Amino acid sequence: MWKKEYEVGIELIDTQHQRLFEYAGVMAGILGKDQSDEEFRAQIKEALRFLKMYCLDHFKDEESYHAQISVENYKEHKKLHVELVKDVLEYEERVVKSDFDHDEIENFLGFVADWLINHVAGADQDLQKLAEIKAGAPGGSMWKDEYLVGVEKIDRQHRILFDFVELINITLNQPLEAYEYEKKITDAVSFLKTYCLEHFKDEEAYYEQKGYSGLEEHKELHKKLVQKLLDYEMEFGATNFAPQVVKKFLGFVLTWLIYHVAGEDQKIKEADRAEAPVEEGAGSVHDFASRAKRVLRTITGLSEKDVDFDIGYTKGVDEGYAFMVGLVDGGDKQGIGLIYSEAIALGALKAMTSMEATEINEITLSALQEISNIVSSRIADSVTESLGGKFCDIEYPVRADINDIPDGSERFLMNTTIGDMEIIVY
Ligand SMILES: [Fe+2]
Ligand SMILES: [Fe+2]
Ligand SMILES: [Fe+2]
Ligand SMILES: [Fe+2]
Repeated sequence: MWKKEYEVGIELIDTQHQRLFEYAGVMAGILGKDQSDEEFRAQIKEALRFLKMYCLDHFKDEESYHAQISVENYKEHKKLHVELVKDVLEYEERVVKSDFDHDEIENFLGFVADWLINHVAGADQDLQKLAEIKAGAPGGSMWKDEYLVGVEKIDRQHRILFDFVELINITLNQPLEAYEYEKKITDAVSFLKTYCLEHFKDEEAYYEQKGYSGLEEHKELHKKLVQKLLDYEMEFGATNFAPQVVKKFLGFVLTWLIYHVAGEDQKIKEADRAEAPVEEGAGSVHDFASRAKRVLRTITGLSEKDVDFDIGYTKGVDEGYAFMVGLVDGGDKQGIGLIYSEAIALGALKAMTSMEATEINEITLSALQEISNIVSSRIADSVTESLGGKFCDIEYPVRADINDIPDGSERFLMNTTIGDMEIIVY
């Protein structure tokens, strides 16, 4: 039953896994043996006892290994182990109740075999892969300590979310059989969804307890993400997990996560402190520019002096990637156009994730789309404020031809150390 492809690459753990598979095999052997009932019961009992003990031992070793290499989601992993132990005890009870009925034992063995294969070749290998990335590339992972909000539980959950997004990226780059690939992506996305729901519940409860005044708005952001995840699930189903769709998803979700955790979730640290005042009031081009700058800095981690804006510039970005966003009910303003130079398109992804991209692909484009979404929603907020709280909604950004972006009444250029971005409000 054991296969080499189940290896995680850590000798102790691999040997233990191999032995677990062997024990399951031993039990199956007992079933087929010609022997007295007495003997049969005694042997099954002994095998069960051994399997249980060995599992516990193995889990202990594996968990302490994970803790030691500090894979942040080892606690989640531990839950899987606890569940298995619970299930095994239930099965054992059923086997005993049925007076060691062969069918019951076979059921149990089938369950153990499935669990072993799925868990070892799934969760165990995934954790090991995460550990390898972390070990091999210091700072190479998406997580940055600047994202800490200082609340232990929330920080831990954020890290796990980042890990899972990273896992999707790893999966995308693995040479996998179609069914394996599909299973891994489905698992990761469904885990992400479940985990987001859990995290959002905890985070919102914490905000509530702190009396955070932005709670309702924040809840709305969470809700929107969940909706997006559901939409993507549908799209995955409809396209059979086409890599382009998964890449698009990845670009979106990582940008969302970074901005949300590095921006929105940080507000709890300075709960209810007003945002830094701007030189000119809401609805002014200065306000738009400084809001856009803040978004860009939050996402890329660039410092204050790395990003500058130039209002009244003469030469904009004449080649690159463009997105258009509609402003609905925004008074005189019709929409927002965003143009990114190739350098900033590649540089932003690298700054966000340490992922080195040499060409623009679905991940980069989808990340740009989400950046555009956040920037334009910030500009829309400013318009709303200037309209005295009147409703101003935005449409989701769409890819556009650079020449299709209308000339605007207000334009500004963001010069950054990683490239340029032009914003046109028309
Ligand atoms: Fe294991
Ligand atoms: Fe495990
Ligand atoms: Fe959060
Ligand atoms: Fe949040």
